[in-house]
Amino acid sequence: HLSVQERIEQKRKAALTGGGQLRIAAQHKRGKLTARERLELLLDPDSFVEYDMFVEHRCSDFGMEADHNKYPGDSVVTGQGRINGRLVYVFSQAFTSEMLFCSQDFTVFGGSLSGAHAQKICKIMDQAMMVGAPVIGLNDSGGARIQEGVESLAGYADIFLRNVMASGVVPQISLIMGPCAGGAVYSPALTDFTFMVKDTSYLFITGPDVVKSVTNEDVTQEELGGAKTHTTVSGVAHRAFENDIDALLNLRNFFNFLPLSNKDPAPVTECHDPRDRLVPGLDTIVPFESTKAYDMLDIVHGIVDEREFFEIMPNYAKNIVVGFARMNGRTVGIVGNQPKVASGCLDINSSVKGARFVRFCDAFNIPIITFVDVPGFLPGTAQEYGGIIRHGAKLLYAFAEATVPKITVITRKAYGGAYDVMSSKHLRGDVNYAWPSAEVAVMGAKGAVQIIFRGKENQAEAEAEYVEKFANPFPAAVRGFVDDIIQPSTTRKRICRDLEVLASKKQTNPWKKHANIPL
Ligand code: COA
Repeated sequence: HLSVQERIEQKRKAALTGGGQLRIAAQHKRGKLTARERLELLLDPDSFVEYDMFVEHRCSDFGMEADHNKYPGDSVVTGQGRINGRLVYVFSQAFTSEMLFCSQDFTVFGGSLSGAHAQKICKIMDQAMMVGAPVIGLNDSGGARIQEGVESLAGYADIFLRNVMASGVVPQISLIMGPCAGGAVYSPALTDFTFMVKDTSYLFITGPDVVKSVTNEDVTQEELGGAKTHTTVSGVAHRAFENDIDALLNLRNFFNFLPLSNKDPAPVTECHDPRDRLVPGLDTIVPFESTKAYDMLDIVHGIVDEREFFEIMPNYAKNIVVGFARMNGRTVGIVGNQPKVASGCLDINSSVKGARFVRFCDAFNIPIITFVDVPGFLPGTAQEYGGIIRHGAKLLYAFAEATVPKITVITRKAYGGAYDVMSSKHLRGDVNYAWPSAEVAVMGAKGAVQIIFRGKENQAEAEAEYVEKFANPFPAAVRGFVDDIIQPSTTRKRICRDLEVLASKKQTNPWKKHANIPL
């Protein structure tokens, strides 16, 4: 007979070894770390406090009631911890960042979700909501615990409901570090950011075998739902990392950009990059010929603190660039058209990518800085049939409803409806700048002249007149639609100053149950 103390120790020890040494070895052989090893990398040393180490599944079918089928803690490790990283936070709440997490343990029943497993996740999510702390999920699971049937499905729905309730209240991040299939995919899909590990993680609704039997397509797991697929083709995931270690270290870094909840301001860190630093390279970055491309990322890197930019979806809809950076230590969300890809025009995928990002920033008090060089929306049947009207409206909607500080810089083209969409003055842009190279017009000179001077002679003359009239920032500036025409090299200095003024911005939208963004 063991004493209570001995039984506690025994259970703790069992919980720490999860599914046992053989399965841990198998996990390592696949190039993956265990649930606990992952937490050691993610969290600050000694900051991990575990919950529910003694929880066990309650299934008594298929021999599951046998002692050897019970694992203390079941197939997920949950608790609270800190991610502090390299940063020293200047402002109050964030000297250390508390957050709650769950890390699925593939070594216990393939990380599959039992009723007990779901209950553990729900517990930390409820607590995160009450205290205002982000939730991070490390997913590595064979899906619903098959032996438990509807109990497990109920568990998923309990988590989904909480994902939805927490949306816009606390940041939610999913890191997919193994399988995630079937209904399980909808929890990551509901969270704000989904990151994946290359080669060892996949997300799909149904696996290759089901696909083969229903559509007769031959496809591998990797092709169907691997990191490359979701970060380049489907847009389901926001970033892919090389391996577990790379992913967890990047997650730590990423986490430092985020506020803890929608009640907290965006974090401000100590900044060693002078706020009034001039960026002379920007004065010549926009090519003289207005059809020649340049890299919007060069502008972003030049302007933000220490050239540090955490890009979101870098390999999907590359005609728009979105991501997080800091200006004078303050987290900002960056949105920019990318002239290097499809001339930076807006299409379905870039609109959706941009809209979701803008809405995240707005929900979590992160100011938005928008760099505009957009020749318009992409024409064509593929776009029209695909619903560019509906999807383009999302980006317009997102910018219009956003009440966080909004600063816009028109670097070159701002044509047509896309001018309106890209955080224009008319959508409550707080500070709107034009560089001297800005052109604000309904369309480019050639197209415009073909329409308004159709069939007339002297097309070249008309074109020159059009260019003279519209290919400059004055039409917008004389109407006050841009607040100033600034020298590109001074952009950082101006934005840093504006952000300080706008830090106390208060703006609200009319009361509503919830809005009805076009979907
Ligand atoms: N329920 C219960 N146990 C599960 C499980 C599930 N959904 N998924 C995996 N397991 C168990 C396996 O029985 C195995 O147990 P063991 O270690 O005692 O042998 C262990 O987890 C590891 O699974 P295994 O199949 O050996 O790993 P793998 O890397 O070869 O394959 C999966 C991983 C996820 C592809 C495969 O297990 C699978 O297809 N699982 C079912 C997925 C599914 O359809 N789930 C329902 C969707 S909602």
